[in-house]
Amino acid sequence: MMKKTLLTALMGAAMTVAATGDLLAQTTLRIFTGGQQRPDVMRQIVDVYMQRNPGVKVEVEVGGATSEQQQQYLNTVLASRDTSLDVVLIDVIRPAQWAAAQWAEPLDSYLGAEKDAIMARYLPAYREANIVGGKVIALPYFADAQFLYYRKDLFEKHGVAAPKTWTELRDGTKKIMAAEGNANLSGFQTAGAPIEGTVCTFMVPYWQQGGNLTDAAGKLTLDPAMSKKTFDLWADYKAASVLPANIAEIVTDRMRQNYQAGQLIATMNWGYVWNRVENDADSQVKGKTGVVPMPGFEAGKSATCVGGWQLAVTAFSKNKAEAVKLVRYLSSPEVSKQQAILASHLPVFPEVYTDADVLKANPWFKDALPVVQTARSRPVSPRYTEVSEIIRTNMNAFLAGTKTADAALADMQSRLGGIFK
Ligand code: GLC
Repeated sequence: MMKKTLLTALMGAAMTVAATGDLLAQTTLRIFTGGQQRPDVMRQIVDVYMQRNPGVKVEVEVGGATSEQQQQYLNTVLASRDTSLDVVLIDVIRPAQWAAAQWAEPLDSYLGAEKDAIMARYLPAYREANIVGGKVIALPYFADAQFLYYRKDLFEKHGVAAPKTWTELRDGTKKIMAAEGNANLSGFQTAGAPIEGTVCTFMVPYWQQGGNLTDAAGKLTLDPAMSKKTFDLWADYKAASVLPANIAEIVTDRMRQNYQAGQLIATMNWGYVWNRVENDADSQVKGKTGVVPMPGFEAGKSATCVGGWQLAVTAFSKNKAEAVKLVRYLSSPEVSKQQAILASHLPVFPEVYTDADVLKANPWFKDALPVVQTARSRPVSPRYTEVSEIIRTNMNAFLAGTKTADAALADMQSRLGGIFK
């Protein structure tokens, strides 16, 4: 009885101190994010959460410049059942792996009776990506897709229309490069280094031909002719010097930097690029960019890759209930809108695309929803790390000129065949 009274008194005191804004927070939550996912914006958002929840302190840990680097680090941390991380931002390709490894705390019981209503509000691709084996593994933070960013000013100056096909993009950038006569101006870049983004460098042209990597039963259906056409596309771009000679070293954020420095005419890149290009102090190309769907082999036959980042509560967190509350907030329409305005992160809720403030910051979002809705998903597999490694290292070796298209394809067929069987 005595003890209980004392505890109640202490709890009351702690709450009073916290409420007056003093240092005594009751719970500290640690959230992990990657450097490319705008940790500065995450900080602003969690600061608001802390103001509204005086008993909670949120720390933001940043690591890994690319998706696979982040996961490599997390593999080590989570394999040792580390309790220091409560919430982790994971790429849209990872929930299956996280579920299989039991790194994520399933959220179903926390969402309770509201679960279906909560999940129904998200764009279907994000609802589906986060439910594995009937369990909610994470909640969406932002959506993503690849678009063509191009120098609208240069296309207009040289009388070239916005490209709808790969041929138009190749010929247009070649013409602009020749006319500008600037040795530092590159034509087009897509990810070519052995990183996650290079999976999409293979998949986008492959999907545009109607190709699927697997059938409904999960068996490999890698089509040799469509794969060959994909390799040929990039070989042709390289031969035309539209892709730079060092394409096999190019990573996502490098393309953004090159573009922003005025050294690149067009790039296949993700949503975040717009905000950086239009707002960074060092941007040389403010107001000069058009964003359109990726060109296809035929006009109107576009395809792009589903990207995006999810919030998982780790299975080892000591503050799971508080962590879920934070995740619910970070995965809300309010935060989706803030992210769209502050970082051009594509919304996971359809209604946010038509919000006036969002459109003011990102006029191209008015046409972005159908692109996101029809984007294709990279294959879902608990062995996605291997799947990714097989595709990106073969694509990279081909771009580096160290492997022929036939050898790359044969390796992909045999190794992917061992996973999707
Ligand atoms: C972006 C996408 C993510 C993708 C990554 C590859 O961050 O949102 O899904 O895997 O780029 O570079």
